[in-house]
Amino acid sequence: MLDLLLRAANLPDGLGPIDIAVKDGCIVDMSPKIVAGAARVIDATDRLVAPPFADSHFHMDATLSLGQPRFNLSGTLLEGIALWGELKPLLTEEAVMERALRYCDLAVAQGLLAIRTHVDVSTAPLVGVAALLEVKKRVSPYIDLQLVAFPQDGLYRAPGAEDNLIRALDMGVDIVGGIPHFERTTEDGARSVKRLCQIAAERDLPMDLHCDESDDPMSRHVETLAAETRRLGLGGRVVGSHLTAMHSYDNYYASKLIPLIAESGMQAIANPLINITLQGRSDTYPKRRGLTRVPEMVAAGVNVALGQDCTMDPWYSLGSADMLEVAHMGIHAVPMTSRDAMSWAFDSVTLGAAAAMGLPDPTLRKGSPANMVVLQARDPIEAIRLRATRLAVIREGRVLAETPPRKAVLSLDGRPDTLDPADYGPKKSSIYPVN
Ligand code: FE2
Repeated sequence: MLDLLLRAANLPDGLGPIDIAVKDGCIVDMSPKIVAGAARVIDATDRLVAPPFADSHFHMDATLSLGQPRFNLSGTLLEGIALWGELKPLLTEEAVMERALRYCDLAVAQGLLAIRTHVDVSTAPLVGVAALLEVKKRVSPYIDLQLVAFPQDGLYRAPGAEDNLIRALDMGVDIVGGIPHFERTTEDGARSVKRLCQIAAERDLPMDLHCDESDDPMSRHVETLAAETRRLGLGGRVVGSHLTAMHSYDNYYASKLIPLIAESGMQAIANPLINITLQGRSDTYPKRRGLTRVPEMVAAGVNVALGQDCTMDPWYSLGSADMLEVAHMGIHAVPMTSRDAMSWAFDSVTLGAAAAMGLPDPTLRKGSPANMVVLQARDPIEAIRLRATRLAVIREGRVLAETPPRKAVLSLDGRPDTLDPADYGPKKSSIYPVN
């Protein structure tokens, strides 16, 4: 007797329809027609069943704080940092936990079951660290939550930040963070990269730096990060997040830099929702998009994940823990619209994000944990196009969340009809029936 059986699922790589059998939290069989009883059967006919979404770049200490203590009027990164600085002294552990746990509920409902969050460690007391360590513990049955010790105000720019970062790591924060482009000088930025790489190497920890999140073509700390990664042999443990200045580098420099990044083995994360709005604010026209060079890095063999970064906080007023929205914006902002590129965008918020986080490959296969999302779409591109409803979110065989399918009931000329959003398109029309 199986615990769960999904019937006739489509898989992200185009395979299917296929049945997925689950027992004791694991996928025990994946075959075209499984004959077995099950405690629960989900009909996944014409539905995409994919690994859960993973968000490799987020700020959970700030999430859902929109409007506290005021709104970001300029919409810039710098006003966002200043505004966060106004909110920080007002934070309590309870308030941070309450917002974070509320966000985690939303994340689970959206099929987002792995999150890497940066947590500000630049000022003592480490309220956010204490709160998110507790949140990590509480949500562990549902979400793989990783914490990055992030000196938001600069490792050297903020007095005491380096000591606070070390203290946060001692408290159990998993990953070394940084923000070299926000240090006072280019030299300090490079020095911070080298120091943080040293800390990661000594403690055998991953690292994930906010790096060159700027429109300044001379913000080139990723070069130091890649060189240090290569020198210390840190490889895929190192992630460069944002890297938006790469958009503004001249092509010759980029053609020298990208092979160095690839050779180092480091990984990259682009955050299209936030950077399409934060960057280019000092431009007149044309305005730069402010996304890093995604296709060029992918072509060079670098793993690039797409992250969300923010949801309703000092930097970004929107967001809904929806990684399909992130992929959708990435496709537009990069831009990358070929079928292959759009399929890549789906992978970048599932497989690619898991790889950037150092998690096991979440591809659905026999023997792997039964972690998956049933989507109201037939394939990955349709899932992105429709920002498909998460019909069922499953972790280790347990259905954690369900959302009814989206359907429109049309009453046109007395001809009632019900449409699944996946049916909208050239094949079906109630207004202009074929016959
Ligand atoms: Fe960030």
